[in-house]
Amino acid sequence: MKTIAVAVMTSAMLIAGAAIAQSGADLAKSKNCLNCHDMDKKKVGPAFKDVGAKYKDNKDAEATLVTKLKEGKGHPTKVAATDAELKTLVQYSLTGK
Ligand code: HEC
Repeated sequence: MKTIAVAVMTSAMLIAGAAIAQSGADLAKSKNCLNCHDMDKKKVGPAFKDVGAKYKDNKDAEATLVTKLKEGKGHPTKVAATDAELKTLVQYSLTGK
Protein backbone atom coordinates (compact mmCIF):
# COMPACT_ATOMS: atom_id res chain seq x y z
CA MET A 1 0.00 0.00 0.00
CA LYS A 2 2.73 2.40 1.02
CA THR A 3 4.63 1.71 -2.20
CA ILE A 4 1.61 2.61 -4.29
CA ALA A 5 1.10 5.89 -2.44
CA VAL A 6 4.73 6.82 -3.03
CA ALA A 7 4.50 5.95 -6.71
CA VAL A 8 1.37 8.06 -7.14
CA MET A 9 2.95 11.00 -5.36
CA THR A 10 6.12 10.76 -7.41
CA SER A 11 4.29 10.79 -10.72
CA ALA A 12 2.07 13.68 -9.60
CA MET A 13 5.21 15.62 -8.78
CA LEU A 14 6.75 14.80 -12.13
CA ILE A 15 3.67 16.00 -13.97
CA ALA A 16 3.53 19.22 -11.94
CA GLY A 17 7.22 19.82 -12.61
CA ALA A 18 6.77 19.37 -16.34
CA ALA A 19 3.89 21.86 -16.42
CA ILE A 20 5.96 24.50 -14.63
CA ALA A 21 9.23 24.09 -16.48
CA GLN A 22 8.37 23.13 -20.03
CA SER A 23 11.44 23.04 -22.22
CA GLY A 24 11.89 25.57 -24.99
CA ALA A 25 11.64 22.87 -27.61
CA ASP A 26 8.32 21.60 -26.22
CA LEU A 27 6.91 25.10 -25.96
CA ALA A 28 7.98 25.98 -29.49
CA LYS A 29 6.07 22.93 -30.64
CA SER A 30 2.97 23.48 -28.51
CA LYS A 31 2.78 27.19 -29.38
CA ASN A 32 3.05 26.37 -33.10
CA CYS A 33 6.26 28.32 -33.59
CA LEU A 34 7.57 25.38 -35.55
CA ASN A 35 4.87 25.87 -38.18
CA CYS A 36 6.89 28.85 -39.36
CA HIS A 37 10.31 28.29 -37.80
CA ASP A 38 12.90 25.56 -37.70
CA MET A 39 16.13 25.49 -35.75
CA ASP A 40 18.38 25.08 -38.80
CA LYS A 41 16.31 25.97 -41.85
CA LYS A 42 14.49 29.06 -43.03
CA LYS A 43 10.76 28.37 -43.40
CA VAL A 44 8.14 31.13 -43.32
CA GLY A 45 10.27 32.80 -40.68
CA PRO A 46 14.02 32.77 -40.13
CA ALA A 47 15.84 29.74 -38.70
CA PHE A 48 16.28 30.15 -34.94
CA LYS A 49 19.98 29.51 -35.52
CA ASP A 50 20.09 32.68 -37.63
CA VAL A 51 18.12 34.63 -35.04
CA GLY A 52 20.72 33.60 -32.46
CA ALA A 53 23.51 34.78 -34.76
CA LYS A 54 21.76 38.07 -35.49
CA TYR A 55 21.30 38.90 -31.79
CA LYS A 56 24.59 37.45 -30.59
CA ASP A 57 26.07 40.79 -29.53
CA ASN A 58 22.83 42.42 -28.47
CA LYS A 59 22.49 42.38 -24.71
CA ASP A 60 18.87 43.55 -24.94
CA ALA A 61 18.00 40.68 -27.26
CA GLU A 62 15.80 38.87 -24.79
CA ALA A 63 13.72 41.90 -23.77
CA THR A 64 13.46 43.10 -27.38
CA LEU A 65 12.24 39.78 -28.67
CA VAL A 66 9.82 39.14 -25.81
CA THR A 67 8.17 42.51 -26.59
CA LYS A 68 8.10 41.79 -30.33
CA LEU A 69 6.37 38.46 -29.81
CA LYS A 70 4.03 39.70 -27.13
CA GLU A 71 2.83 42.73 -29.06
CA GLY A 72 3.13 41.36 -32.56
CA LYS A 73 5.37 44.28 -33.57
CA GLY A 74 8.01 43.16 -36.04
CA HIS A 75 6.53 39.71 -35.86
CA PRO A 76 3.65 38.49 -38.02
CA THR A 77 1.78 36.91 -35.14
CA LYS A 78 1.03 38.02 -31.63
CA VAL A 79 2.10 35.16 -29.42
CA ALA A 80 -0.33 34.16 -26.69
CA ALA A 81 1.91 33.01 -23.87
CA THR A 82 2.77 34.01 -20.33
CA ASP A 83 5.83 36.17 -19.73
CA ALA A 84 7.67 33.15 -18.36
CA GLU A 85 6.79 31.13 -21.46
CA LEU A 86 7.86 33.97 -23.75
CA LYS A 87 11.17 34.16 -21.97
CA THR A 88 11.71 30.44 -22.43
CA LEU A 89 10.70 30.67 -26.10
CA VAL A 90 13.03 33.58 -26.76
CA GLN A 91 15.90 31.83 -25.01
CA TYR A 92 15.19 28.82 -27.15
CA SER A 93 15.13 30.98 -30.30
CA LEU A 94 18.46 32.52 -29.35
CA THR A 95 20.36 29.56 -27.98
CA GLY A 96 18.50 26.44 -29.01
CA LYS A 97 18.06 25.58 -25.33
C1 HEC B 1 2.79 32.54 -39.10
C2 HEC B 1 4.19 32.21 -39.07
C3 HEC B 1 4.95 32.40 -37.77
C4 HEC B 1 4.70 31.85 -36.53
C5 HEC B 1 3.55 30.96 -36.12
C6 HEC B 1 5.78 32.27 -35.67
N1 HEC B 1 6.66 33.05 -36.36
FE1 HEC B 1 8.35 33.94 -35.61
N2 HEC B 1 8.67 34.89 -37.39
C7 HEC B 1 7.91 34.71 -38.53
C8 HEC B 1 8.43 35.59 -39.58
C9 HEC B 1 7.86 35.71 -40.99
C10 HEC B 1 9.52 36.27 -39.02
C11 HEC B 1 10.38 37.34 -39.67
C12 HEC B 1 9.81 38.69 -39.35
C13 HEC B 1 10.64 39.82 -39.86
O1 HEC B 1 11.88 39.74 -39.78
O2 HEC B 1 10.05 40.81 -40.30
C14 HEC B 1 9.65 35.79 -37.65
C15 HEC B 1 10.65 36.22 -36.77
C16 HEC B 1 10.87 35.67 -35.52
C17 HEC B 1 11.97 36.00 -34.65
C18 HEC B 1 13.11 36.94 -34.97
C19 HEC B 1 12.69 38.38 -34.84
C20 HEC B 1 13.83 39.28 -35.16
O3 HEC B 1 13.85 40.38 -34.61
O4 HEC B 1 14.72 38.92 -35.94
C21 HEC B 1 11.81 35.26 -33.51
C22 HEC B 1 12.71 35.25 -32.27
C23 HEC B 1 10.61 34.49 -33.66
N3 HEC B 1 10.04 34.76 -34.89
C24 HEC B 1 10.14 33.64 -32.71
C25 HEC B 1 8.92 32.96 -32.80
C26 HEC B 1 8.37 32.16 -31.73
C27 HEC B 1 9.04 31.90 -30.41
C28 HEC B 1 7.18 31.69 -32.18
C29 HEC B 1 6.16 30.84 -31.45
C30 HEC B 1 5.65 31.37 -30.20
C31 HEC B 1 6.99 32.18 -33.54
N4 HEC B 1 8.07 32.96 -33.87
C32 HEC B 1 5.89 31.90 -34.33
C33 HEC B 1 6.81 33.87 -38.67
C34 HEC B 1 6.20 33.17 -37.66
